[in-house]
This record gives sequence, C-alpha cells and structure tokens, in this order.
Amino acid sequence: MKALLLAGGLGTRLRPLTERLPKPMAPVVNRPWLEHLILHLKSQGISEFVIAVKHNADIIRKHFEDGCKFGVRIEYSQEPELLGTAGAIKHAEQLLTDRFIVVNADIINHVELLPLLEFHQTNGALVTIGLTEVEDPSHYGVVQQTMSGRIIRFVEKPPRHAAPSNRINAGIYVMEKEALKWIPAGREVSIERETFPTLIRKGFPVYGWLVRGYWLDMGTLDRYLALHRDVLDGKCALQPSYPAQKEGIWTGEDIDISDDVTLVPPVVIGNGVKVGRGCVVGPYTVLGDKVTVEPGSSCSHSVVLPGARLEGNRTISNAIVGPDFSVEVQSPVYEAKKKVVHR
Ligand code: GTP
Repeated sequence: MKALLLAGGLGTRLRPLTERLPKPMAPVVNRPWLEHLILHLKSQGISEFVIAVKHNADIIRKHFEDGCKFGVRIEYSQEPELLGTAGAIKHAEQLLTDRFIVVNADIINHVELLPLLEFHQTNGALVTIGLTEVEDPSHYGVVQQTMSGRIIRFVEKPPRHAAPSNRINAGIYVMEKEALKWIPAGREVSIERETFPTLIRKGFPVYGWLVRGYWLDMGTLDRYLALHRDVLDGKCALQPSYPAQKEGIWTGEDIDISDDVTLVPPVVIGNGVKVGRGCVVGPYTVLGDKVTVEPGSSCSHSVVLPGARLEGNRTISNAIVGPDFSVEVQSPVYEAKKKVVHR
C-alpha cells in the first residue's frame, strides 16, 4: 500500500516562510517536517510514497529524489496548476494502489497505521477519515458520527455554535481507489468542501477514526512557533536530532559559541552555528544550521532558520527569522497578529 502526501499548496498563511519553501519543508527542530513524516510512516510499514507537488516543487524533489537515501521509494505527481486537496488525489490516480493512505503533509501527528487500517477493513469503508478533537472546531472540517463511527455529516468551517461535534478532520485518510470515481478530473476540487460531503450524501460508507496523541495543523506562524514550544516541552513525539549536552540544551557539530554566552534551556543549536560575545539564547529557541548571532544579542521563544544572521545588540522574542526576513508573532496563541520585516 502506498501513501500519498499532499504537499503542493501555497501555504499562504505561513508566509513569508513559504515564499521560497513548500510548507511541508518548513523545518521542525531543524529537519524538514516532510522528512519527519516520511520516516514516521516508514516506521509504520510504508515504503512507497507518492508526493503531490506544485508550489516550489523542486525543493521537495531535490531533497528526497527517489527516496533511496531515506530507505523508501518516492514518486512525484506534479500538477500543472493547483488542483485542490481532492483534485491532487485524482491527478495522482495512476500512481496509487487499490487502497492507499493520504496525509496532508502539514499535519503534525504520529499516526498509528495498524489500528486505523483494521478499523477501515472491519467496517468495509470506502473512506476512513482520521479525526481529532479540538476545543474550537470552527476553523476545520467537523463531523457528525453514529455510535459505530460512521460519518453522517461533514461540515467545513461551521460557525462555532453550529458545529455538530468537536471532532475534526485530522488530514489523514485511508481511501479505496473506487472513491476517486467521485472526484471530477482536470479542475480544482476540495476534499473537505466537495468530495466528503458528496460521498456521505450518496450513502457511501465513510467512517471516522480518532487519531491518538499530539496533533497540530502547523499552517500559521503562531502555530509553527507553538509547535516548537511543544516539541521542546516534550509534548510531541519528536526529538532534536543532536545529543543533549545538558538538560534541555541540544547542540550540533562545529559550533562556535563564546565563553560568556548564556544558553537558557530549552534550546537547540544547529550545526555550524556561531554565537558572539555576551549573547543570551533561549528559552524555547531553535537556531538552524549555520546561523550567526552577532555579539550582544538575545533571542528567546523563537525559531531562526538555517543561514540566518541576527544582528548585534538586538533583542528578539516570539519571532521566526529567515535569511531575508524576520516575523514577530505578537502572541504565540492561534491566529495571532503578525509584523513582517523584509530585509
Ligand atoms: P494556505 O494557503 O495557508 O491555506 O495553505 P495550503 O493551501 O498550502 O494548505 P492547506 O492547509 O489548505 O492544505 C493541506 C495540505 O494539502 C498541505 O500540505 C498543502 O500543501 C496540500 N495542498 C493544498 N492544496 C493543494 C493542491 O492544490 N495540490 C497539492 N498537491 N497539494 C495541496
């Protein structure tokens, strides 16, 4: 069975991070999320992947190539134009197995595939939608289910008071290929707005299965920062890929950190990072590979992307900094206001 990873969207809500990067390639503790995802699915027994790409596709192709260096096989389904979440699945039809898994590649969850597939099989489902529970479902696709888990209604982004439950589409599906007959070819189709409601209305067996553990849609700047905070707090099954030097301080190789620098845990320092005299780094800060922090600066609750340079004698907090931009997220709570500074 293959897994289809949807990774072609524009990621508008994660700009400017996604201006040059596909959203699923945004680093999470210094490794592209898509790589974490593929390695996790590999640990769950999946060895064949199709990645549906469009926006900044070359970055994904160049990083993964045919998957060989990650011990898996990867094919690409390249859309001529953005076809939406269902249109992308339809476009990949020729590459898919009779039963396949679809994952929105911007969803952080370490799904357990075996129980999900067993549930799908036992119910004879055409589609099984992974679900998660949230306090405010109004930003998501919300389901109504019977006691057996069958979905009888799917409403995309309902007003909070009209939401039929707090169970939402977690962006992970098991699908039978027959379901693709109901997705029109050659035009943009949204799985949430069009395909799921159609299949349910027509009485096809569409079931919902609650995914376990940490779940986050990392599609906004504040959630991206919140994700890093959660990882560093140990709330998510992700570890920095460097050894911990002391409790809560992970450091890569070839780093150059002045003796008088204060590292406040939790903090992650990537390979080849330079931190100048008198700096304070952390808490809740991730410095990407080859980042330079010039003397006299302090940086907390922030993610600094590979190759970025923090100017001297500056204080940054709740920020995402790239090689040519800096975004201050006013409050690390969902849908926060943002201030973008392009250099
Ligand atoms: P926003 O512009 O911020 O809404 O982000 P998005 O459209 O990139 O992502 P959204 O959350 O709507 O989509 C969920 C997942 O599907 C993401 O991993 C996207 O990359 C992917 N996706 C969305 N639309 C398309 C599409 O038209 N084609 C492909 N191949 N992938 C898509």
